[in-house]
Amino acid sequence: MTGTANEQARKTAEGLVYATGFGNEHSSEAVPGALPLGRNAPQRAPLGLYAEQLSGSAFTEPRAANHRSWLYRIRPSAAHPPFVRVEPRAVRSAPFTECVPDPNRLRWNPLPAPEGPTDFLDGLWTLGGNGDATQRSGMAVHLYHANAPMERRVFSDADGELLIVPERGGLLLRTELGLLRAVPGEVALIPRGVRFRVELLDATARGYVCENYGQPFRLPDLGPIGANGLANARDFRAPVAAYEDVEGPVEVVNKFCGSLWTATYDHSPLDVVAWHGNHAPYVYDLRRFNVIGSISYDHPDPSIFTVLTSPSDTPGLAGVDFVVFAPRWLVGEDTFRPPYFHRNVMTEYMGLIEGAYDAKAEGFVPGGGSLHNMMSAHGPDRETFDRASAAELVPQKIDDGLAFMFETRWPLTLTAQARDAGHLQRGYDDVWQGLQRHFRP
Ligand SMILES: [Fe+2]
Repeated sequence: MTGTANEQARKTAEGLVYATGFGNEHSSEAVPGALPLGRNAPQRAPLGLYAEQLSGSAFTEPRAANHRSWLYRIRPSAAHPPFVRVEPRAVRSAPFTECVPDPNRLRWNPLPAPEGPTDFLDGLWTLGGNGDATQRSGMAVHLYHANAPMERRVFSDADGELLIVPERGGLLLRTELGLLRAVPGEVALIPRGVRFRVELLDATARGYVCENYGQPFRLPDLGPIGANGLANARDFRAPVAAYEDVEGPVEVVNKFCGSLWTATYDHSPLDVVAWHGNHAPYVYDLRRFNVIGSISYDHPDPSIFTVLTSPSDTPGLAGVDFVVFAPRWLVGEDTFRPPYFHRNVMTEYMGLIEGAYDAKAEGFVPGGGSLHNMMSAHGPDRETFDRASAAELVPQKIDDGLAFMFETRWPLTLTAQARDAGHLQRGYDDVWQGLQRHFRP
């Protein structure tokens, strides 16, 4: 059954078309004439649809920060039964209070395969995070491992937007605003409050999720880089309107202030026939990232690799940045080329989508992750240090891996399940043992 479902999802995903551009005011209708012209809420919306605004920002936020979409749907979202709180499986939320914050450097192997049929939502497993979902500040790191599609079930997250980073297996994301395909090497973003369902393109799917409670991700400013570069706005793709007209029970799971709440609707809420606005999901291919780097000397700070940033009230200080280490050339002269040793006031969670990362010779594997909390000392392992210190500095192409980082302004506190996980590596500190003293005054 699942194989057939995968095949159908793959066929659907192959034929998808998109609108392009980051943060655009998109307009889309799945049925001609469904989108009203010249106004948002006519006395009678076209085709007997209901008009509904979905706000991702306060009405009064500055225009550049204002997020909202108008949805034209078969039934209004207000028509639903009461939600009932359910026990979450492995999803946890901020504030994270199960553990004390840990200054140690930590590293995990991939999340183990689930036992029995497990969809994306049941397969979500929270590693940790910071902030407070009710204050709309901070973030959480989740991983997922799924082997079944979400069937007659949709999810929405009132606590934050979800940046999904597939590592193994493709996803078909059926959202209120339309369909997206996201395969390893791409990332997908589901905005706060947008309902969606995840189908699988392959037998299993594994990856990472950054749940961002704070300001929506935006493209970083470019400063002296100029008008182009890093993630180019035109490479982001938004869905076009696509609706399902499904009667019968559909479970709607709503993450609200850290808890999961469920209600059984008598229809699918993915019934938006037309929409316009800028509060919309999107997908981005990380291989489109225009990598900027040093062409003289020194390893630049990794902020140069920022794809998306969630700003805070302090200029330049992100609630969370999403950073990618994409294929690039290293040409620095008289330079230690891998990432340098450092201690960072920001907290770094790193994951690996494929291949290897240039600061770690081994142990950091696709699907795994490392956590270097605020001010923890880290950098290249001994083997990498020895090799890079002696390497002949010819131009070198780094193209054997795709790593990323969620970098956040606050320390990250683990969940108990992450602290006690069987897939937490023991002895990660050892990678920095044996770094010899060379100072002989
Ligand atoms: Fe670091």
